[in-house]
Amino acid sequence: MAKLHVSTTVNGEPLEFLCEPHDTMLDALRNQLALTGSKEGCASGDCGACSITLDDRLVCSCLMLAAEAEGHEIRTIEGMARGGRLHPLQEKFLEQAALQCGICTSGMLVASEALLAKNPDPSEEEVRFWLAGNLCRCTGYDKIVRAVLETATEMREAAQ
Ligand code: FES
Ligand code: FES
Repeated sequence: MAKLHVSTTVNGEPLEFLCEPHDTMLDALRNQLALTGSKEGCASGDCGACSITLDDRLVCSCLMLAAEAEGHEIRTIEGMARGGRLHPLQEKFLEQAALQCGICTSGMLVASEALLAKNPDPSEEEVRFWLAGNLCRCTGYDKIVRAVLETATEMREAAQ
């Protein structure tokens, strides 16, 4: 079967790649584009380890066809640090030890960034609800939730 040619933007950079019609966006990121930060935990939309944004909407890249990236803007964990500086969420996850094995971490960070872009002052309940689709087998979630809440506070203070 002929490969599909896809033109898209990934982390602000225009990119083109070839893929099979059945390839997922996660396949394309990891195999064609060498962006391996997005992880495959389940390949069925249940764990959130593959979270990316598509035109600022949080999606599971394992549930999206690579061909659907045509003409759209993708952001991945690789685009989170800017100008050689970690995003405040990344710094806080490290500071709070909000990760252990790290398999869920890129998805947690991408999802948390999407939450704070939408709601800069979330309650603990809102953070837990938003991250309910991101599973972590290691941390027990409390450190992750605390890291997101503290980052939100610090980002609001820095914006004043
Ligand atoms: S790998 Fe996509 S949701 Fe689990
Ligand atoms: S740190 Fe291991 S799954 Fe979350």
